[in-house]
Amino acid sequence: MADDYGAVVALDVEHHRGVVDQRLFGSFVEHMGRGVYTGIFEPTHPTADELGFRGDVAGLVRELGVTLARYPGGNFVSGYDWTDGIGPREQRPRRLDLAWRSIETNEVGTDEFMSWARSLGIEPMLAVNLGTAGVREAAALIEYCNIAEGTEWSDRRRRNGAVKPYEVGLWCLGNEMDGPWQTGHMSAERYAAVAAEAAKAMRLVDPGIQLVACGSSSHEMPTFGYWESTVLEHAGEYVDYISMHAYYEEFDGDRDSFLASAVSMDSFIDGVIATIDAVAARRRTKRRIDISFDEWNVWYLSRYPGSHNLPIDVAGPRIEDVYSTVDAVVVGDLLSSLLNHADRVKIACLAQLVNVIAPIMTEPGGPAWRQPTFYPFAAVTANARGHSLVTRVVAPELGTRRYGDVPVVAAAATHDARTGDTAVFLTNRAARHTGVELRHANFEGWTVRSAEYIAADGRGPRDRLPAADVWFTPLATDTSADGRTTQIMLPPHSWTVLSVSTGGAA
Ligand code: AHR
Repeated sequence: MADDYGAVVALDVEHHRGVVDQRLFGSFVEHMGRGVYTGIFEPTHPTADELGFRGDVAGLVRELGVTLARYPGGNFVSGYDWTDGIGPREQRPRRLDLAWRSIETNEVGTDEFMSWARSLGIEPMLAVNLGTAGVREAAALIEYCNIAEGTEWSDRRRRNGAVKPYEVGLWCLGNEMDGPWQTGHMSAERYAAVAAEAAKAMRLVDPGIQLVACGSSSHEMPTFGYWESTVLEHAGEYVDYISMHAYYEEFDGDRDSFLASAVSMDSFIDGVIATIDAVAARRRTKRRIDISFDEWNVWYLSRYPGSHNLPIDVAGPRIEDVYSTVDAVVVGDLLSSLLNHADRVKIACLAQLVNVIAPIMTEPGGPAWRQPTFYPFAAVTANARGHSLVTRVVAPELGTRRYGDVPVVAAAATHDARTGDTAVFLTNRAARHTGVELRHANFEGWTVRSAEYIAADGRGPRDRLPAADVWFTPLATDTSADGRTTQIMLPPHSWTVLSVSTGGAA
């Protein structure tokens, strides 16, 4: 032990959890509030490109390291007619969007989104509407996107300017269909039947696509567990992933529980894995189903009045949470939870990307800036490569109201055998310093390149264009002469990233 209030984190260079799929670093662009309009898209903005996308936002998205973007919703997709969003802009209808009680102008649709995503090297993850639409509309959208030419929808795409097919490989079968708030909400049995039929038709259009079935909208849903097993029982043969969604917030000033949100994420993921495997065992199938955690974040959702209480407004609700460093520490810890399940969680989307519960904010006609939650996400996308390593953590426990006793230290680590680059992510959930002894005996040439932390000191994005070092503070590390251990003193309520070089492939 580093001291009597210390923890040990043991790493083994050969003990992998799984490959870190770069799709873990996805985000989410929904037609909701200012996510699209005056978010990624603002034709009158001084930095706008020829399609109307903001250049300053694109720069921040690149810096954030987002690899994948889910689109166009979210709850929005369950009332969306994708054909409204294609063709000449002046002919596109203004529709009442029931999800957010807003008016959708359809200035941005599938073609515009695809251009934006492509220009940033971001993989698209498109959702089909299984709430107010169904099999026919879903199959037509795949035809529009993925068939080369010679059919009604593929030729329409060509006429709309996209000569080559988009080859979208990843598709969501609806959104949160277990939620009573969803337009077209259905029972697990009905959703399983609809999802299976949509999947069959979509695969008949393009057999190469991968499909995500809706799982539960949160761990707290009364149907959690039953929903997953029913969907997998009846639609499991047709899908590749089941989704998870979870948002975390601090309730009643209970900071200890909030800082332990990743414990809840861990148990939610473990529960879904257990359910997937139980259904597979019962069905005697070898088909592999993994997890798409396609909505996760801190969201002060309890402050949202509910869509029913919103007036109809062109722009929709302003769900623009202003994050603090406390939220950033939680986001960092949630990322560690995702990395620690890299063997089964293959896709994840920080919900959302711009303005709506987002790491990037904009002012119409004005600047774009980073929220504190931007920093842990960018640090993980910049450093997590190769395999996720098994981290054995022995740490004192902290009593929390919501989650009982939780370890004060959480850890995740990645190692790229080719380059030797290793990253270690550490959370200190305690309100005091916690010493950590990092044991890394079988890593050759362990050299800490940098160690820095973000502390939950409550600062928010007051300075709208902060330099990265305003948020991260360098942290001293002490590696033993034999190179087998490193001592670190983690500041109270903090999230730390260590970048380490070790011997790469010979
Ligand atoms: O991300 C905001 C909303 O949260 C999404 O539209 C919905 O899927 C979830 O409930």
